Amino acid sequence: MCGIVGYVGPQSALDVVTAGLKRLEYRGYDSAGVAVQADGQLATAKKAGKLVNLEKELADRPLPAGTTGIGHTRWATHGGPTDANAHPHIDNAGRVAVVHNGIIENFAALREELTERGHELGSETDTEVVAHLLAEEFSGCADLAEAMRLVCRRLEGAFTLVAVHADEPDVVVGARRNSPLVVGVGEGEAFLASDVAAFIAHTREAVELGQDQVVELRRDRVTVTDFDGGTADVRAYHVDWDASAAEKGGYDYFMLKEIAEQPKAVADTLLGRIDAAGSLTLDEVRIPANVLREVDKIVIVACGTAFHAGLIAKYAIEHWTRVPCEVELASEFRYRDPILDQQTLVVAISQSGETMDTLMALRHAREQGAKVLAICNTNGSTIPRESDAVLYTHAGPEVAVASTKAFLTQLVACYLVALYLGQVRGTKWADEIRAVVRDLSSVSGAVERVLETMEPVRELARSLAEKNTVLFLGRHVGYPVALEGALKLKELAYMHAEGFAAGELKHGPIALVEDDMPVVVVVPSPRGRSVLHDKIVSNIQEIRARGARTIVIAEEGDEAVVPYADHLIRIPATPTLLQPLVATVPLQVFACELATARGNEVDQPRNLAKSVTVE
Ligand code: G6P
Repeated sequence: MCGIVGYVGPQSALDVVTAGLKRLEYRGYDSAGVAVQADGQLATAKKAGKLVNLEKELADRPLPAGTTGIGHTRWATHGGPTDANAHPHIDNAGRVAVVHNGIIENFAALREELTERGHELGSETDTEVVAHLLAEEFSGCADLAEAMRLVCRRLEGAFTLVAVHADEPDVVVGARRNSPLVVGVGEGEAFLASDVAAFIAHTREAVELGQDQVVELRRDRVTVTDFDGGTADVRAYHVDWDASAAEKGGYDYFMLKEIAEQPKAVADTLLGRIDAAGSLTLDEVRIPANVLREVDKIVIVACGTAFHAGLIAKYAIEHWTRVPCEVELASEFRYRDPILDQQTLVVAISQSGETMDTLMALRHAREQGAKVLAICNTNGSTIPRESDAVLYTHAGPEVAVASTKAFLTQLVACYLVALYLGQVRGTKWADEIRAVVRDLSSVSGAVERVLETMEPVRELARSLAEKNTVLFLGRHVGYPVALEGALKLKELAYMHAEGFAAGELKHGPIALVEDDMPVVVVVPSPRGRSVLHDKIVSNIQEIRARGARTIVIAEEGDEAVVPYADHLIRIPATPTLLQPLVATVPLQVFACELATARGNEVDQPRNLAKSVTVE
């Protein structure tokens, strides 16, 4: 939520910063702005709306050339998406410029104080106070890093700040509390950004900043301290993907590319985690086996699509480990005083590793003595840093706001955790684990096959572009798949879409069914738990009898559904618990195509941001 970039080095700061902002636009696109240090002055430009508006502004009114600069792309919290509220914010003398991600909770009191001292604040944002406070502190110490430390000690809330001062050439200063900030270290140049994607075209050497740290960037050195000026521990790491992974690679949208990458992403998540004998080796799970054996309750916390992965994981975890598992929206978790102790294992699922609700939930869990295992896609992000252990999903960068490959890989990681717990606790035999692992290994090919047969789904989606409502039904693990299908449609097509447990239909939702209303039904395999299958076939008949247009997702060879399916989408036969890995894919394609047909922005849906770093 909000993307920020800083640069110091020999290149044009404006070029580096605007290219970085392009890569971070998924974090918010309400406005964009830049500030460049040039000839002892600061020059700024900012514009409401997407980055393209700022680029037009810069073409009409070029900024003087400079080699030190900062930039911001905004997801509005305090104050509407206007030019005045766009970042960077500057002090009254125009000597300091600052960009911010997060919320400064005590900004109203600080603003009042500044106004009493004669400062004039022109925006409605919480950020502007920082520019004024930095200017005041800088006039006392003439050191931007020190000024930043002094200011940060006065701020409450979540904030990542990046600032430049006209009187301190070739210096960019950043600060971090809760919201993400990474340093990129190049040859004679350095970068700061919310995400490595912003500087990956220049360097793959990164430094992870910890909580409450201030970083000073110069061309030849990066200095990190805590808010009191003491030395701080930082972790340097090498980014294991390159710039091409963050490009569209010939696709019209990142989402299409990311959907297509799913077979590889799923295979990558399994890589190196299964030994030659077929047993699991999750070395990263640093929680000792004896602690895992003592676990008597598992609680999964997550938001959005990751929450749906958690709902599916519950079925696998309870079935394979016999340990009770709860799944909770991270934003609700800590406020209901959940029962947690040393025998509780909390699993925090997050693609970005920065979602504030999930972070706060895991902090609460650890305070209560629970162990936390993170399932995360972003190396070095806050959630894995603050967890006892992490299983990375290795999906590669996910740029489209609506999550696709991250979801599938989160599922794979959840299955691995469930099997691992079964292995450690002895509730699954080695040959049973091997059999599931074999099934998991074949999922990549099955997803590939689904992707090859999507043209009729796209055609169907286009034909439904004028509809107002789509319902989604599922049972067992198909129920969270229905929720995910509905979420994708809301996010992308801005349509009324709801997912229901098919059995719950008769308790209310069936009243929504109208003539020709599209209802997507995720049908479980007729093999194995065929009772589930038979019940959902009855549900399809019930809605069809009331006029619904049925869109049935069913396994190849399932003939029982044929008479009741107005549209039939075939998926490869998969064991029941793993079916979400294939059944979700047509729903992603369906939502993406419907959004396109309705003329919506696929990668950047209105009002959303990919990484939600505020509560
Ligand atoms: C936002 C995104 C969703 C995502 C959710 C959780 O709402 O738009 O796509 O599922 O955050 O994000 P996380 O990074 O924690 O998985």
